[in-house]
Parts: sequence; structure tokens; C-alpha cells
Amino acid sequence: MTKITDVRLRRVLDSRGNATVEADVATESGGFGRAKAPSGASTGEFEAIELPVNEAIAAAREEAVPRLIDDVFAGDQRGVDATLRAADGTDDFSTIGANSAVAISMAAAKAGADVAGLPLFQHLGGTFRGDTFPVPLGNVIGGGEHAADATHIQEFLAAPVGAPSVQEAVFANAAVHQAAGELLEERGVPSAKGDEGAWAPAIDDSEAFEVMAEAVERVENDVGFEIKFGLDMAGAELYDSDAGVYQYGDKSRDTDEQIEYVADLVAEYDLVYVEDPLDENDYEAFAELTERVGDRTLVCGDDLFVTNVERLETGIEADAANSILVKPNQIGTLSDAVDAVELAIENGYDPVISHRSGETEDTTIAHLAVATDAPYIKTGTVGGERTAKLNELIRIEQNA
Ligand code: PGA
Ligand code: ZN
Repeated sequence: MTKITDVRLRRVLDSRGNATVEADVATESGGFGRAKAPSGASTGEFEAIELPVNEAIAAAREEAVPRLIDDVFAGDQRGVDATLRAADGTDDFSTIGANSAVAISMAAAKAGADVAGLPLFQHLGGTFRGDTFPVPLGNVIGGGEHAADATHIQEFLAAPVGAPSVQEAVFANAAVHQAAGELLEERGVPSAKGDEGAWAPAIDDSEAFEVMAEAVERVENDVGFEIKFGLDMAGAELYDSDAGVYQYGDKSRDTDEQIEYVADLVAEYDLVYVEDPLDENDYEAFAELTERVGDRTLVCGDDLFVTNVERLETGIEADAANSILVKPNQIGTLSDAVDAVELAIENGYDPVISHRSGETEDTTIAHLAVATDAPYIKTGTVGGERTAKLNELIRIEQNA
């Protein structure tokens, strides 16, 4: 292992045209890694703190960089991440920003892989991991916080569960996206795309279900393997905590009605995946839904768990879900994200490694999904910042 000799931070563009943090990590033996932080729009209340980019860079330069240089080994990811935590001194990275922390953490991992001469997934996963491939969940139609005047449900996700390879799964999702676009056109609904490249038509959720079901069926018949679909409801964004109801435009549902609604959707559309069906504070309602549909579908906590092992422990205690979304920038370091994955797997929860709505061409999450043998990855369907990860998965699968 060689020591980190330089850490550089700069302000670069993300896919929404906002600023984000890019980190370069160099080692004494000439190893190098570069990574960029993503950024959410429908962020969970309990996520680590993303600071304004200039502030995050200045604070990390002041607090973290001096502690990393000439002291920490690039291949020692736990050491790098513990140093970031110690330098920050808070639980939520509010001193240096989770955006600076995650960019440095991921860049150090890439430098460590470079020094070891290994692909990143192998460096992160070790010898006994990395031999199964995740099913990509592809955002096809969406709205919520990711697009104005579109569906209330944030994401309708294709799930090519029967695909024989990552490559075929990736292309199946793209075909479902294309088919949905054609179906929308046939219905006379002009549609732009939202932040993650999903169609963002001004239709109600029930029409989106029709289009999705038809698009999936069309492509399933074409490719000859099973394709299902699922949802990210981003329940915390729908929930009006003052009124205690989930608001869908003019229509509202109280918590019992929401549970009923989601259970009905799972049955009607044979959904394989439902993320954040309920509010991020309501472990109890999550548990009730999981009790009803958890044997048939993944009930996944995103804003509920925010990649945080303490919140996941609470969820496991309460039988709140059977799956966790894992976003490294929600918690701030790769070590913390891997801790969440491991706790999930030990307790029979399926980890789903995920992008954010604001992304970059960074491909770390593709490697993280393979390194942890995660059964699913959520990283979009089309758009350069999404295909960067999908194409990397194809390359990893082919050992390229
Ligand atoms: P975000 O959305 O990145 O805007 O938080 C993604 C999600 O909710 O899964
Ligand atoms: Zn989500």
C-alpha cells in the first residue's frame, strides 16, 4: 500500500447544470483516482449534509486534506473514511459536506484500485465477491420532484428480472423506455424528459400504469425473457405531515388508504419493487405494508433508511421493509455504504445500489453494486450520466 500524497478538489458540472465536487487522489507510487459527488432533489430528511460546493471544498481543504496527505494509505479504505469522519467531527458531515466526503472517499478507492492494479469492483469486493450481477432498475416514466406537471409517483421502473445478462437487461430497459415513448406519442401526449431521463408526461398516475404495463409487455414479447416493473413513490414528498395525508394533486389518501392503495397496485400490476411507499418517519406503516405484500415484492426504504445503519437497525427491529436503497452520498463514505449493505444482507434485506437524480459521468456505483453482489442497481435508462454506469456494468460483465 502506498500513502496518499495529494488530494485536489474542484467545482465541476452535474447533469442538472449545478455545481458538484470532484476529487483527485494521488499516491506516492503514482496511483491516481478521480470521483465526483452526485446530488439528490427528493432528498431524505435524515441524509448527511450536502454543503454549497465552494463551502464544502474550502472546508475539506482545511479540515480533511491535511490529515489524509502523507499519513493515510490509499488502499486502506476504512482508514481513509475514518480519517474523513474524524476530520469532520459530526455525524452528518456538516463540517466538510457529504459532497466533499463522498468524492474523496470514492477517489481514494479508485487510487487504491489503481495502486493494486485491480478493477475497482475487485478492489472493493475482494476475492469472494463480484461474481453475480445486479438487475438494473430503469426509470422509464416519472415526475414528482424530478419533473414539473408530470406523474405524482416519482418513478416507474422497468425490472428485467429474467434477463440472462446485464447487457441484455440494460438494452431491455432502453427498449421499454423507447416503447413507452412511442405509446405516449400514440396517445397524443407530448413528453419531455425529467432529471433522470425518464419520460415526464402530463398524465395521471393511472395512465402511466397503463403505458408502463403495455410497454413492458411489448418488450417482453420481443426479447423473450421476463420483465416486470416497480415504483419509487417517494412517499415523503407526497406526504403532508400537517394534514396527515398523502397528496396526489386534488386527491388525498390517509395512511391506511395509502397502504391499501399500494397493496392493490402490487396485486394489480404484479409489481416486483416498491420504494418509499410511505413517509420517511413512519416505520409502523412501512411494517404494515411489508406484512401484507413483503412475500411478493421488495419494499425498499430510501428516504426511510438514508443508507444509515442506525436507521436500518430500527427498521429491521420493526420489520419495516425487506430492502434498502444504498446511496453513498446519503451517508458520506464508501465504508458507511458497505456497512449498510452488509447489515442488510445479514438480515435478509436486499440492497439496491442507487444513483441520484443529479449525476455525473462517475461510475463508482456500478463497481460498488458488483463488489457487494447487490441483487439490484438503480441507475436510470438513458442519458450520458446514466449510460456511463450502465455501460460500465456491461464492461465489467465482459471483463473488459
Ligand atoms: P433523488 O431521487 O436523487 O432526487 O433523491 C432519487 C430517489 O428518490 O431514489
Ligand atoms: Zn427514492
